[in-house]
Amino acid sequence: MGPRYAPRVPTLVVDPSAPDPQAIAAAAARIRAGELVAFPTETVYGLGAAALDARAVAKIYAAKGRPSYNPLIVHVLGVAQARAQVREWPPLADALAQRFWPGPLTLVLAKAAIVPDLVTAGLPSVAVRSPAHPVARALLEAAELAIAAPSANRFQAISPTTAAHVARSLGPDAALILDGGPSVVGIESTVVSLAEARPTLLRLGGLPAAEVEAITGPLARPDAVAHGVARASPGLDDRHYAPGGELRLLSREELLAAVAAGPRPVGSISFAPAPTGVDHALELPEDPREYARLLYAALHTLDELGCRRILVEAVPEGPAWAAIADRLRRAGG
Ligand code: TXA
Ligand code: MG
Repeated sequence: MGPRYAPRVPTLVVDPSAPDPQAIAAAAARIRAGELVAFPTETVYGLGAAALDARAVAKIYAAKGRPSYNPLIVHVLGVAQARAQVREWPPLADALAQRFWPGPLTLVLAKAAIVPDLVTAGLPSVAVRSPAHPVARALLEAAELAIAAPSANRFQAISPTTAAHVARSLGPDAALILDGGPSVVGIESTVVSLAEARPTLLRLGGLPAAEVEAITGPLARPDAVAHGVARASPGLDDRHYAPGGELRLLSREELLAAVAAGPRPVGSISFAPAPTGVDHALELPEDPREYARLLYAALHTLDELGCRRILVEAVPEGPAWAAIADRLRRAGG
């Protein structure tokens, strides 16, 4: 078994470049026994349970404090395992999976009867994704089961991109945590439904929508996805991914003016140079992929520092920033 870095915290540190088979076997045994395992994916950490075991899946909702009307994503090794979760696997699903799996794309399809209603929150469709992170893949291989997993945070809290975020959000004893280092994509997967009359974008995410559209043609976009407001699908609550303090999205000028006008400590997330007069000023890079990778860690940091206000410099318009802008709007909800 891998090292434990604190006596009470059941965390196994796993080198993503060579996952320790004994640590993976221990985690897989827990999944097979109907217990929870938090594991790294390239997007964010997931809180996993055996997908076809309704009693195991119920533990996910309890640990997250999440209402069961939010459906979960079923994580699979690849197309063969995905096909077992769905009633039909259309040619478009095959084309998308060939191009983007493993990776940050989730496909929603008509569900197979074996998938418990608790996984899909009673919907006739199921979400499937093949994660790219080597630790997630090693776990799926060793467990020989599909793994249902939402992001491994308390309901409506900031998604975790490190094992420490998971322990802090869920409490140290909620699940065995596999620590495979920080997630590199940093925001959740893009969710596309193929269960509607037209392919539909349900959530902006780590895979740019334009890359999907190169294969599907223009995706239908429910208003909530287009504008980052209201509910498009279960789980797309307006307020989501939120820190404890008040988060505001501001232009640079507005941000500078707002610093003095409210409770402290006040934190900021901006492009360089960081504004002066802020108690905790974090800078994020101007490259959208790097920004996405670091955003949730920045929010967790300011949250941990007890910031009562988080002032965020607005990000540029345009498709490269759309998923980030969406998450910031929801965090500010
Ligand atoms: O990157 C990710 O997707 C991460 C990692 C762990 O894979 N998972 C994640 O799960 O973000 P969660 O539960 O936080 O978000 C799942 C999203 C929600 O927006 C939910 O509404 C949508 O997927 N979803 C799941 N099943 C669905 C279904 N049958 N129909 C429509 N939307 C669905
Ligand atoms: Mg989530």
